[in-house]
Amino acid sequence: MPGRESLNGAAARLPFGCWRQGLMFVIRPTPGRWENSNQTLRDTTMNLYPVLLILHLLAAFLFVGTVTFEVLFLEPVHKRLPADVRRALGSQLGPRVRSVVPWSVLLLYVAGLGLAWQHRGALAAPLASSFGLLLSVKTALAASVLVHVATALILARRRRLTGAVQSRMHLSVFCHMVAIVVLAKAMFYLTW
Ligand code: HEM
Repeated sequence: MPGRESLNGAAARLPFGCWRQGLMFVIRPTPGRWENSNQTLRDTTMNLYPVLLILHLLAAFLFVGTVTFEVLFLEPVHKRLPADVRRALGSQLGPRVRSVVPWSVLLLYVAGLGLAWQHRGALAAPLASSFGLLLSVKTALAASVLVHVATALILARRRRLTGAVQSRMHLSVFCHMVAIVVLAKAMFYLTW
């Protein structure tokens, strides 16, 4: 079909290989309509941004708060408790944590990806700006937190998650989170 190849070629050259924009480009080739639909997409994501940001923050405080409580308060106290009290505490606390925290983690990452979508230009060229670099490092650290969570789940399923491994993992996730929160603010204020 004449012109189709050039349209597909143009769609392939769109930034970040965005299939959605590419698809809209191919099925709405009239320039005026394309600009309108692109503007609508941009408006929708911009309107969603504050909602995603609040959800991201709420989920972050739940997840970061849980890990902080675990590392700074629960683990040091846990060691000093009699074995039967430790077991009772674990059997009550474990199911409660497992019923809340996975949802906050899911919300945190989904909202984070929604926010990152708005900054895809900076993320596509991380070395081009201080913001892009700091956000990329923050995202990499967040990915590493997920790797920690997945590793802990796999070890727990294989019954190889000992207390020592667990507390080392908690400490590592805690350090990641301190860095993530500092980067989340620094990326807006630190420039070079
Ligand atoms: C352990 C995981 C994460 C934690 C603890 C976390 C925490 C935070 C915090 C505290 C903020 C500051 C919000 C504010 O003060 O306004 C923030 C902002 C942000 N986060 Fe995350 N985040 C995590 C994962 C992610 C992921 C996976 C992404 C996306 C790939 C992401 C993308 C963003 C973006 C783009 C912002 C800037 C929002 C803005 O202020 O405009 N985050 N994050």
